[in-house]
Amino acid sequence: MPLPLAPLLAPSLLAGDHAHLAASARVVSDLGLLWLHCDIMDGHFVPNLTFGPETLAALRRAGSKLFFDTHLMLSEPQRYIEAFAKAGSNLISIHIEPAYDHAATLARIRDLGCQCGLVLNPGTPVAAVEPYLGQVDLILVMTVQPGFGGQPFRRDMLPKLTQLAAWRRERDLTFRLEVDGGIDLATGAECRAAGADTFVAGTSFFKAPDKPAYAAAFAKL
Ligand code: DX5
Ligand code: ZN
Repeated sequence: MPLPLAPLLAPSLLAGDHAHLAASARVVSDLGLLWLHCDIMDGHFVPNLTFGPETLAALRRAGSKLFFDTHLMLSEPQRYIEAFAKAGSNLISIHIEPAYDHAATLARIRDLGCQCGLVLNPGTPVAAVEPYLGQVDLILVMTVQPGFGGQPFRRDMLPKLTQLAAWRRERDLTFRLEVDGGIDLATGAECRAAGADTFVAGTSFFKAPDKPAYAAAFAKL
């Protein structure tokens, strides 16, 4: 049986300083953290816009070596996979809700040398991603409706984590189980107890007055 994965904190760049994103990424790497969660929104799948592949490429040019955990909130993610892979994404996650060839897009992400993830919205049952569990490096359970940072955590998403963690254990799979939305130390601990190992934190991370203490506490969840 695979050992439980150590808790991993992935600060979300969305809550960083958009006039100085390289500096925000450096805040993360200077703490010794490894992952940076990059939220890509198209104003269509979600009612907001953020940044695109050129921003990630610019962060690479500015020297960032962080693992770019790229969350595509796009109606047609299959059209942008290559651009994000070229821009420096290490992992690309796509939503299950829009209609496109999910299996082919996950395979394409891997062909391009990236890890792949599948994301489900609060209203989407966990059964929707079940057929793909053997094909992914990560499942992302949204704990808010995606589109904006700073929303309250949805505790009713915890049973999804319990189910996914059970499937992972029973089938000897090793995908990461990530949560995103309203995550802080308290809600993160609840998700950890339900089986999550990877924690996106936007507002709670960038607003934390003592970031080293915050990161150290997350590592012990
Ligand atoms: C929401 C994004 C999140 C967001 C989380 O649509 O997918 O990654 O940055 O922000 P907080 O941690 O503030 O809820
Ligand atoms: Zn996200």
